[in-house]
Amino acid sequence: MDLLIKNISRLVTVASRGKPFKAGKDMQDLGIVDNAAVLCLEGKIAWAGPMSEWAAVGGQFVQPGQRPDLEEIDAAGKVVLPGFVDSHTHAMFAGDRAHEFALRSAGATYQEIARQGGGILNTVSHVRAASKKELKRSTVSMLNEMMKHGTTTVEIKTGYGLTLDAEIKMMEAIHELQVEEMIGIVPTFLGAHAVPPEFKEDPAAYVALVIEKMIPYVGKRKIALFCDVFCEQGYFDVDSSRRILEAGKSWGMAPKVHAEEITASGGAMLAAQVGAVSADHLERIDDAGITAMRDAGIVATLLPGVSFFLNHGYAPARALIDAGVPVAIASDFNPGSCMSFSMPLMMTIACTQMRMSPEEALCAATLNGAAAVSLSGSCGSIEAGKNADLIVADVPDYTHLAYHFGTNHVVKTIKNGTILEI
Ligand code: NIG
Ligand code: FE
Repeated sequence: MDLLIKNISRLVTVASRGKPFKAGKDMQDLGIVDNAAVLCLEGKIAWAGPMSEWAAVGGQFVQPGQRPDLEEIDAAGKVVLPGFVDSHTHAMFAGDRAHEFALRSAGATYQEIARQGGGILNTVSHVRAASKKELKRSTVSMLNEMMKHGTTTVEIKTGYGLTLDAEIKMMEAIHELQVEEMIGIVPTFLGAHAVPPEFKEDPAAYVALVIEKMIPYVGKRKIALFCDVFCEQGYFDVDSSRRILEAGKSWGMAPKVHAEEITASGGAMLAAQVGAVSADHLERIDDAGITAMRDAGIVATLLPGVSFFLNHGYAPARALIDAGVPVAIASDFNPGSCMSFSMPLMMTIACTQMRMSPEEALCAATLNGAAAVSLSGSCGSIEAGKNADLIVADVPDYTHLAYHFGTNHVVKTIKNGTILEI
């Protein structure tokens, strides 16, 4: 179905004119067009511009009477913007961790809970016991909700299996959803998410299993685009992380790093050295790490919901943006450190707690999120030739998405030119 969205009060294009991301002051420039129209043909954006030009330009694309299947949406009084790209999630899991949430509210920390066998390993035991079908079913219901909240592309990591079979189960399930589901899915292999209990006494043997068995299996089948690692004290040190990421690279998976989340562990520097696409979290990043990321052109994916949910301090968004590092924001949706996939909520937290402007937050949740998963050539902004991934929001202006928080303003989500039936 081809689509014309017309009379848009305010169109936020986030146009980058061929650049893969926006950095520094450019993050303020959202490419706004007032009283606008967008034409979507065969799943792509064919044209976007002011209504005043549509009359002259439209005939080029749509001859009167020739496209009876052209559906029209009147977006008067509404804002249209690119669908959100949630570039970091652990959206496939089983069970929940509500009791850990309660323990934290009573004063326990994420690390204390993890040391007592909770945390990631709690979810691992549920995922190991679940079938592939069950994992897919529960993830699909989350994906549908995400789309209703405006997310059109989502990255999903493995990392709750931590045996060869259970990691393969997760990886295949994510890959199958990528083929079957409407939302765009970016699959990431995260076998190095935690050392499982059976390897507690010999973590090096687990690293060997990841490198020698898991990565070749996933690499041969080309079912992951990225290889990620949790580089952190008590999880994977810099040396093991480097070997895992290099192994991933040799199998065609681009590196990503969970870096500097709980302690300053050198993950940002490592990301720069291995040529990672993004380094994520960065609550404890230092000046040297910021400079290294800027020089290497690595996207800093900040996860405001985690800092909020774990109450453990925020990444230095201002210092990163002011240094010229391209900043993305993502939800990190997972049952432990952020049980929310709402990208508008992440924008609210980025603005109130990290001093990002509403413009920077929106750029970070769209174009720069796309760059964090190497997809900014095809999504993240509303420009001719890109996928027709857009949302219609019933707000007076885009600022209200972050400002008026705790409610869903998205009234239509469009993926590859198809309107999601809500
Ligand atoms: O990104 N930091 C490591 N991994 C996740 C948490 C996953 C979990 O607690 O289940 C994160 O925050
Ligand atoms: Fe994460």
